[in-house]
Amino acid sequence: MPHDIRSGPAKSDITSETIEVLHNRVSIRKYSQDPVTEAQVEAILRAAFRAPTSSNIQAYSVIIVRDPAVKKELAELTGNQRHVAECPVYLQFCADLTRMEGAMKRHGHDMENNNLEYGLVASIDVALVGMSAYVAADSLGIKGLMIGAVRNKPLDVGKLLGMPRRVYPVFGMCLGWPAEAPKQKPRMDYETIVHRERYSTEGLAAALDTYDSELAAHYESIGKKTTPDSWTHDIDEKFAAPRRDKLRQYLKEMGFDFR
Ligand SMILES: Cc1cc2nc3c(=O)[nH]c(=O)nc-3n(C[C@H](O)[C@H](O)[C@H](O)COP(=O)(O)O)c2cc1C
Repeated sequence: MPHDIRSGPAKSDITSETIEVLHNRVSIRKYSQDPVTEAQVEAILRAAFRAPTSSNIQAYSVIIVRDPAVKKELAELTGNQRHVAECPVYLQFCADLTRMEGAMKRHGHDMENNNLEYGLVASIDVALVGMSAYVAADSLGIKGLMIGAVRNKPLDVGKLLGMPRRVYPVFGMCLGWPAEAPKQKPRMDYETIVHRERYSTEGLAAALDTYDSELAAHYESIGKKTTPDSWTHDIDEKFAAPRRDKLRQYLKEMGFDFR
């Protein structure tokens, strides 16, 4: 089969176990009662901590949450997301500047000049660890879901999980053995996203039209309410008004300036 460079999720004939894991990935929101053991979590996280890290800062921490009462509170704080309470294990991925601050203090400096770069590198670092953990888990058959809604109320999540200053919750991750097999959501066309040598703005309107129809057809096929202009409609509805507009203030309170 020739290498299909036109469509988004279509597979190439070049593959590997890792590529297969990535191709088959889908967010899972229903889990069986089977436990995810501490040894499994440790194997997943130890592998994930091999992710590249900017200047070797390793500016992340992970909080493993199993207590049903805490998961229930987290579910409420993240907009009543049932799967957060129901997953056997929830991992809270945090950007964490405490160890960097400790290093600087040893050498006579503080972190009061903390700016956008600190927050950004820590957030990028934790995203790389998070995705690595997600893929490592998936390779064992343990599936899950990232939870960005922790940034709705980061101060409350931080307090609940005992985060000190200079630590903020970037996203959470529900993990468990899957009890559903959802159809994969289509991705945008490969050529819409990939540019060769120089960025090209050609074909944007057509690409949006195509993806609107593909996503609408997907939602119809799984019985989910949608509109013919599915993606552009949903994106506009969700993002036209500023979201989480107190986030900068909350993160400043948590010791991240983002200025
Ligand atoms: C950083 C991040 C945060 C997310 N937060 C949530 C969330 O709070 N709740 C949820 O149900 N899905 C969440 N998702 C899952 C996305 O909605 C999902 O990945 C996307 O719709 C594509 O679907 P797929 O993962 O099944 O391909 C999040 C994904 C990412 C990457």
